[in-house]
Amino acid sequence: MAEAERGIPTHVAIIMDGNGRWARKRGLPRTAGHAQGAKVVEQILEDADHMGIRYLTVYAFSTENWSRPQPEVKMLMNLLRTYMKTSLAKCAKNNVRIRVIGDKSKLDVDLQKAIAGLEEDTRDNTGIGFQIAINYGARDEMRRAVTKLCEKAKSGALDPASITEETISDSLDTAGIPDPDLLIRTSGEERLSNFLMWQLSYAEFYFTDVAWPDFNKAELEKAVDAYRHRERRMGGLVR
Ligand code: FPP
Repeated sequence: MAEAERGIPTHVAIIMDGNGRWARKRGLPRTAGHAQGAKVVEQILEDADHMGIRYLTVYAFSTENWSRPQPEVKMLMNLLRTYMKTSLAKCAKNNVRIRVIGDKSKLDVDLQKAIAGLEEDTRDNTGIGFQIAINYGARDEMRRAVTKLCEKAKSGALDPASITEETISDSLDTAGIPDPDLLIRTSGEERLSNFLMWQLSYAEFYFTDVAWPDFNKAELEKAVDAYRHRERRMGGLVR
């Protein structure tokens, strides 16, 4: 049976919150929470794949996160750098296709290169699509899309009257990827925090008190189960 028919969401997006609180509870530095969180990301990617989820998008670093203490920012960037440089073999083995969403132009050049390499090398993989949001903010993504469209219009390549919702979707960092069906946010907060605001228009939201470093396959299954038991209404029709 097709995954969608079994009620498995095609695309799951996750706001991975609570790393700092998880660490503080254990008397550890916040960075220890991020390190554990990064391990959980890798495991959840495998679990999501095994469950039949086709796309997973995680919020790793927001446009607002630059204002955190500089050592923490540096550590997060190093975690992402390590991931980009070491995960190719694993992606090849598991057939994972990687895309980084967000404004990559503000990242260190070596990280930009590692991202471009990993995206290129996994582009033809046909398994789960894994989107990592880095220096991502939905408002910034929309601002960049508007700039792109205005430039096209100015050059005569685009007639403003022809702009549809699809034109806008296709101008976002997630172009070509179906909108998320399910958004999960861990650690008790119930906010969107500037994540995928356009793409989450019809998504179901699932909040859990579990901190991201404690999140696991059983928790993912709970979220998918909750999703499955909701009636999916789009404009009044149950999907
Ligand atoms: C929120 O917790 C979490 C982040 C800002 C960073 C999330 C990043 C990772 C889990 C690493 C990503 C790694 C890969 C490989 C994609 P918080 O620090 O805001 O927690 P708090 O609210 O408890 O302080």
